[in-house]
Amino acid sequence: MKCFKLLPLAVSLALTTSIANAADTPVTEQLVDTLTTLSGGPHKGYRANHAKGVLVSGVFTPTPQASSISSAPHFKLATTPILVRYSDATGVPTIPDANGNAFPKGIAIRFSLPNDAVTDIVSISVNGFPAATPEDFLGLLNAVRDSGASKVQPSPVEQFLATHPAAAKFVSTPKPAPVSFATQPFYGVNAFKFTNTQGNSVFGRYQILPVDGAHYLTQAEADKAAPDYLMQGIVKRVATKPVQYTLVLQLAEAGDNVNDPTAVWPDTRKTVTLGVLSLNAAVADSASKEKTIMFNPLQLPTGIAPTQDPILLARPGAYAVSYGRRLAN
Ligand code: HEM
Repeated sequence: MKCFKLLPLAVSLALTTSIANAADTPVTEQLVDTLTTLSGGPHKGYRANHAKGVLVSGVFTPTPQASSISSAPHFKLATTPILVRYSDATGVPTIPDANGNAFPKGIAIRFSLPNDAVTDIVSISVNGFPAATPEDFLGLLNAVRDSGASKVQPSPVEQFLATHPAAAKFVSTPKPAPVSFATQPFYGVNAFKFTNTQGNSVFGRYQILPVDGAHYLTQAEADKAAPDYLMQGIVKRVATKPVQYTLVLQLAEAGDNVNDPTAVWPDTRKTVTLGVLSLNAAVADSASKEKTIMFNPLQLPTGIAPTQDPILLARPGAYAVSYGRRLAN
């Protein structure tokens, strides 16, 4: 009899504890937990998102206009060495490059500045994001997670998309497989504030536009593509001919929302070309080296400052959780 009375108490205590734990866990850590679950992880030593990747290196050459936008060192120096990591979405380290879940693609760029300083740009192949806050992003990811085994109709993710237009727009945006990483445009999505030596500021979002142009496979070609065609292709390509992108800044106009990555600005906004990214070498020990690096979009030099975009501000926390776990593995 006693046991039956204690059982509900034990269940209710356990429930209270798990609710308390969920509430105590920072949203950034919950995001990493759900990303890990979605990828069938943890996958020892790999990133919780953008797990599959490859490193290449090269040089950034600014335009004369760059230093009129920002006093950042790499916009003033003649050239700056760069390290680039291309990646596929998800925490699945072996995902085929043309798999529908491997989008958006990622590009992370590390600029080596004087005095051992660095700054990073971490961008994706879609112009926009599915959520304006980390809490909403967690809501989307949890809805995807809960839809796997759910018999509820409409499913949790269908319900989420029906009430979150930005997420619905993001998931329905076509994400075709590029011919090569050299033919894929990338977008900064989060805005930053750029200040020049005279103290004049503008808000802008990066665009990384391939000099080779944007070119994609047909669905039939994508279906036949080798699992590592992008990763292996880019390593071969940089060894034969540099891969180049123009680094462009799309400027906000008065009234544009600079704190919401779901609020895509119109293509008619003014742009400034900041320079050329030229990638000309593979990194010999890419697989081991990428494990020791954490790119951080808030690692910023003088002349570039974050906005109050909650997604941007949440990123370093989530990346640090993922980094800590993959180093510990
Ligand atoms: C709250 C929103 C976001 C969360 C929770 C998140 C989560 C993550 C995590 C956990 C990693 C692995 C980090 C590591 O282990 O080093 C990662 C990597 C990455 N994320 Fe995000 N992310 C978010 C937003 C974004 C946005 C807005 C972009 C681009 C505009 C982006 C682009 C990337 C890229 C390119 C990588 C790979 C970086 C690399 O090559 O090391 N993420 N993300």
